[in-house]
Amino acid sequence: MALIPIVYYSHHPTLHKVAQPITHFDEALLTLIQDMYETMYAADGCGLAAPQIGIAKRIAVIDISDKKNKPFCIINPEIIEKTGMELMSAGCLSVPGTYTTGPRATYVKVRAQDETGKVFELAATGLLSHCLQHEIDHLLGKLNIDYLSPLKKQISLKKMEKFLRRNEKD
Ligand code: NI
Repeated sequence: MALIPIVYYSHHPTLHKVAQPITHFDEALLTLIQDMYETMYAADGCGLAAPQIGIAKRIAVIDISDKKNKPFCIINPEIIEKTGMELMSAGCLSVPGTYTTGPRATYVKVRAQDETGKVFELAATGLLSHCLQHEIDHLLGKLNIDYLSPLKKQISLKKMEKFLRRNEKD
């Protein structure tokens, strides 16, 4: 198992591209999933998508449990139903030091594959719904700050750069 460095908004092209489907459900994929769990927990996140570690593949890991002991992965996920709309404030490991508010569906149903390639469906509201939408956006090259107006986006990016500079000095 290994920690993989997380890349930041506008610092890495993969974050801003549409990711490619996973076609091989093999040992290498299981290793990647384990590394993604470890990287997500080390960063204290509740979700991590492969583009955030510089890998342009359609896979994300999620754990919204309080004890951080219920991880699961979504591979080649698609939103097949969504209803409602609410404004949600959220952070992103690729835009550290800033929270942004954007529109999210209240309810989503997602179809995805698990680590063995088996197809499953997951219906969600609340935090899980928002998290699924956030991670699936990552696989489309879209981040939460992309929902902001150009001016608010600039402000958020300045906050992020300031946060990164401060952390480099420590
Ligand atoms: Ni994110």
